[in-house]
Amino acid sequence: MEFLQSEFLIETIVPEDELIISRTDLKGNITYANETFAYISGYTVEELIGKPHNIVRHPDMPKRVFKQMWEKLQRKEKWEGVVKNLRKDTGFYWVHATISGVYKDDKLVEYKSIRIPISHTEKIKFQRLYDSYRNIDKENIRKIIYT
Ligand SMILES: Cc1cc2nc3c(=O)[nH]c(=O)nc-3n(C[C@H](O)[C@H](O)[C@H](O)COP(=O)(O)O)c2cc1C
Repeated sequence: MEFLQSEFLIETIVPEDELIISRTDLKGNITYANETFAYISGYTVEELIGKPHNIVRHPDMPKRVFKQMWEKLQRKEKWEGVVKNLRKDTGFYWVHATISGVYKDDKLVEYKSIRIPISHTEKIKFQRLYDSYRNIDKENIRKIIYT
C-alpha cells in the first residue's frame, strides 16, 4: 500500500479528558458517534453514521486483532485492546478501546465502544507488536512515499 499524503505521518492526540464513543449494528455499521469521535477522526457525525466502522481502520492494524475481536464479541464477551485508527485526512490516532454488546430484553441488538487515550510508551510498544504481527502474517508491509 502506498500513501502519497504527508498527513499520513501526523498524529492526533486524544485529550486525557475525552471519551470517543460509538455504537454499531451487529454488522459493524455505525449507528451512533459522539462529537469527540467526529473531531478526533476528522469526520462529521453525519459522515460517520451508517458507514462501516472500518472507515477508520488503519493499514498498520493487523487482521488478526479484528478477527479475535469479532470472535470474542460473537461469544458475547467484552473485548479490550489497543487500536491505531486512520483519520479522514490519513493522519492517525491511538486509543484503548473497550467493545461490548448492547442488550434489549436480553437480546443482543448492537455493539458499543468506548475509547480512551494511551501513553506514548504504549503506542511504541503496540506499533512494534502490530508491525511484528503483520510481518509474521505476511500482510500489508508499509511503504511510505515521502512528498
Ligand atoms: C462497536 C465497534 C467498534 C469498532 N471500532 C473500531 C475502530 O475504532 N477501528 C477499527 O479499525 N475497527 C473498529 N471496529 C471493527 C470494524 O468493524 C472492522 O472489523 C475492522 O475495522 C476491520 O475491518 P475489516 O473487517 O473490513 O477487515 C469496531 C467494531 C465494533 C463492533
